[in-house]
Order: sequence, then C-alpha cells, then structure tokens
Amino acid sequence: MSDHQTLLITGANRGIGLEYVRQYTDDGWRVIACCRQPEQAGALQRLAAGNQQIEIHHLDVGDFDQIEALGRTLADQSIQLLINNAGIYPESSFRHIDYAQWMQAFKINTMSTLKLAEVFVPHLVKAGNAKLVAMTSKMGSIDDNTSGGEYLYRSSKTALNMVMKSLSHDLNKYGISVASLHPGWVRTDMGGPNGLIDTETSVSGLRKVIANLSLNRSGKFFAYDGKEIAW
Ligand SMILES: NC(=O)c1ccc[n+]([C@@H]2O[C@H](COP(=O)([O-])OP(=O)(O)OC[C@H]3O[C@@H](n4cnc5c(N)ncnc54)[C@H](OP(=O)(O)O)[C@@H]3O)[C@@H](O)[C@H]2O)c1
Repeated sequence: MSDHQTLLITGANRGIGLEYVRQYTDDGWRVIACCRQPEQAGALQRLAAGNQQIEIHHLDVGDFDQIEALGRTLADQSIQLLINNAGIYPESSFRHIDYAQWMQAFKINTMSTLKLAEVFVPHLVKAGNAKLVAMTSKMGSIDDNTSGGEYLYRSSKTALNMVMKSLSHDLNKYGISVASLHPGWVRTDMGGPNGLIDTETSVSGLRKVIANLSLNRSGKFFAYDGKEIAW
C-alpha cells in the first residue's frame, strides 16, 4: 500500500473509529484523525505519539462552522478516503421519545455526513479515484426492521442511507465511489459487551469492502463481511 494515501475519519478517539486509525496506519496510510476532545483522547494520543503518520484534529461533527474551518485548514491536501464514523445512539421507544435528542441524532448521524461531503469533495477530487463511506447500521434497514422501537437511531441511519445513495449519483462525475457500511454488532461503548464481534474483526472486514469499492459498485449498502444489505 502506498504511503501517500490519506484517510480522514471522524470519531477517531474510541471504538470502531480508533481501530480504523490503527489498521490504516499499520498499512502505511497517513491518517487525519478527527475527534471532538483531542485533549481527552488518551488512546488516540498514545497511538499518534509513536506514529508521525497520524495527525489529530479537533472536530465536533455537529458544529458545521468547525467542518468548514477544517476544510480550509486542509485546503492543500488530497484525501483518498473519507470515513464518516462519528455517531450517537439515543435510546427510544414508543411513547418515550425525546424530540430534542431526535434532532441531535439527525444532526450527528445524518446531516453532518452531507456537510462533510460538501466541504471535502475538492480534497477527494484532488486525490483521484477517491472513496466516501459512512458507518450506518442494519438498524436503518427498513427491510430488516422486524422488532420496531429505536425510532431515533433507526430513522437517522435510514436517512443517512438515503443521503449516501444520492451522493453516489451526485459524486459519480467526480470519480468518487460511495458506500453505506454496517460494521456488525461490535463490542464498543455503543455496541456494549454482548456484541458478536470485536473492533479488529469488524474493521479488517470493512477495510476489504472499502478496498473493493469502485464506481460500478457505488451507492450500495454493505456489511463488514462483504454481504449486500437490503435497504
Ligand atoms: N458498535 C456497533 O455495534 C455498531 C453497529 C452498527 C453501527 N455502528 C456505527 O458505527 C459508528 C461507530 O460506532 P462505535 O460502536 O465505535 O461507537 P462508540 O464507541 O460510541 O463511539 C462513537 C464515536 O463517535 C464520536 N462522536 C459522537 N458524537 C460526536 C460528535 N458530535 N462529533 C464528533 N464525534 C462524535 C464519539 O466521540 P466522543 O468520545 O467525543 O463521544 C466516538 O468517537 C457509529 O456511527 C455507529 O452508529 C456501530
């Protein structure tokens, strides 16, 4: 793998995001690792201390001015891969809905991805044959919903899938491939201790899916094991 490839990832300080940073840098990539509290990102700081290929940037994806400012800071850089990983899971059930939290879930899980795409398309175009992916969830699949509930998380990820589908059409002319990715049920703070797989298994599978992504496979919804998921 060329050491000139650059990844920009959000929510890089823990869970799946941190494992992406670890695996891509092990593979020789340069990583622009974004997180909202760098001073408290101990594990990421330790990883970066031993590796000059990791550059940590402050980014709260809910603050769109910050996204624009980061775009300007990185204006001269080409980025081959943008991973929209940051996400929140506010629990919800019928008659137990916090509508303010729902708006926040849409902002973080859905709208920030489109904002990041708008700001970073020039950096992706500069790289050529670039890829833009989002960590969504099978819980956003309408076909797969057999148990109901979890209105906030499910609907924000369903909407994210639609954003990614439209981006796959709109970014085709720039040569940018797009995919919605499901990491599996992963043992992280969000997935909890009962998750079926660890972050290493999830991310090594996801990296293969990303490596195989191309313009003629753009706009699809894949799980970490490469299987396509019904919308
Ligand atoms: N784990 C699973 O089983 C599972 C299944 C399906 C999909 N996913 C998706 O995979 C992605 C990663 O999940 P995970 O399990 O690694 O979750 P996690 O352990 O809860 O980590 C979430 C990450 O998102 C960051 N984040 C949250 N709000 C943010 C904001 N406003 N700005 C910037 N960063 C923010 C967190 O940063 P802070 O530390 O600052 O909070 C943290 O780095 C998410 O999009 C999630 O929906 C996970």
